[in-house]
Amino acid sequence: MSDVVDMGGPRIGDEERDAVDRVLRSGRLAQGPEVEAFEAELARDLAGTAHAVAVASGSAALDLSLVALGVGQGDEVVTTPFTFPATVNAVLRSGATVRFADIGDDFLIEPAAAAAAMTDRTALILAVHLYGLPCDADALAAMGRPVLEDAAQAHLATLGGRRAGSLGVAGCFSFYASKNMTTGEGGAVTTGDAELAERLRVLRNQGMRDRYDFAAIGWNLRLTEVAAAIGRAQLRRLPAWTAARRAVASMLSEALGDVEGVILPTVPAGRDHAWHRYTIRLDPSIDRDAVAAKMEADGIEARVYYSQVVPDMEPYVGHPRIDVSQPLERARAAARTVLSLPCHPGITEADVARMVASLRAAVSSAGGDRP
Ligand SMILES: Cc1ncc(COP(=O)(O)O)c(C=O)c1O
Repeated sequence: MSDVVDMGGPRIGDEERDAVDRVLRSGRLAQGPEVEAFEAELARDLAGTAHAVAVASGSAALDLSLVALGVGQGDEVVTTPFTFPATVNAVLRSGATVRFADIGDDFLIEPAAAAAAMTDRTALILAVHLYGLPCDADALAAMGRPVLEDAAQAHLATLGGRRAGSLGVAGCFSFYASKNMTTGEGGAVTTGDAELAERLRVLRNQGMRDRYDFAAIGWNLRLTEVAAAIGRAQLRRLPAWTAARRAVASMLSEALGDVEGVILPTVPAGRDHAWHRYTIRLDPSIDRDAVAAKMEADGIEARVYYSQVVPDMEPYVGHPRIDVSQPLERARAAARTVLSLPCHPGITEADVARMVASLRAAVSSAGGDRP
């Protein structure tokens, strides 16, 4: 049996091992010069912003951004129901109310739906660049509220030549192990706003402005030196990895164009996708579980991200600070029909050929004849 074509994982090489060794030998383990250097490199090479603040996770990036932007009780945040729950959890932790707006065919919050969901209590729009495709942040910003980017999946994605993380007031990245670059656990907020960056730095470090000079009630959401050193090595390799993801995505799209019942992901003009996930939609008459099972039997991982919209998940149903008064049917339809295929730098042309043959066969045996 040939190797499994998997969804990908952390890519660790000598660069990362040497970086960890360097930190261990230095004896400095908590936030210090590696974090500072990582931040300068993130600002320059990841988002193209003046500032980056490294934190313990993508969730920490969202938590701190919401607080630093003054979002809390009595405010409303408009966001997408079709995301990983971390997006919504951060808003609920802030004390604000979540108002969901439906998505378009690109799986992203639709500007017109976001406008319809807004009220005069709406403090900001939280735009999730799902799967690595940037939202139309300009159309969202035209609604007159700040746009906070959940760029957890969108490293090096672009909109009109500008990078994810620089499209709104701030961008929140994750460096979790499954992401396009990783520090194990980690995250960052990128922003062009110097005062916001300073507030974030203070809040991540127990509210300390200077040694034992406290300006706010903060958290410990710092990144470690080991994590930052790994991140610096990963960031240097990210452009090549992103190009490899784009090459795999084009091969997949080219080869799958004529498969009946499969709708391919599209990239609107003026955007570059980061291809965190290559996600197709299956015609509703096709049994998605049967397709995934058949592919698995062929040694190919195909996964569903995400099988439910967040407001339909148990902890969120009936939540007093969740508003589901807007139609969310396109998001629910996406949750029923999406399927992600392996798309990462480890995928070869031969893997693509296997995936295509397997999906083609799986779709023709799992479709059409269901009641
Ligand atoms: C869309 C989205 N937002 C937020 C997060 C949270 O990031 P983290 O797991 O680093 O806390 C993730 C990833 O897990 C994510 O995919």
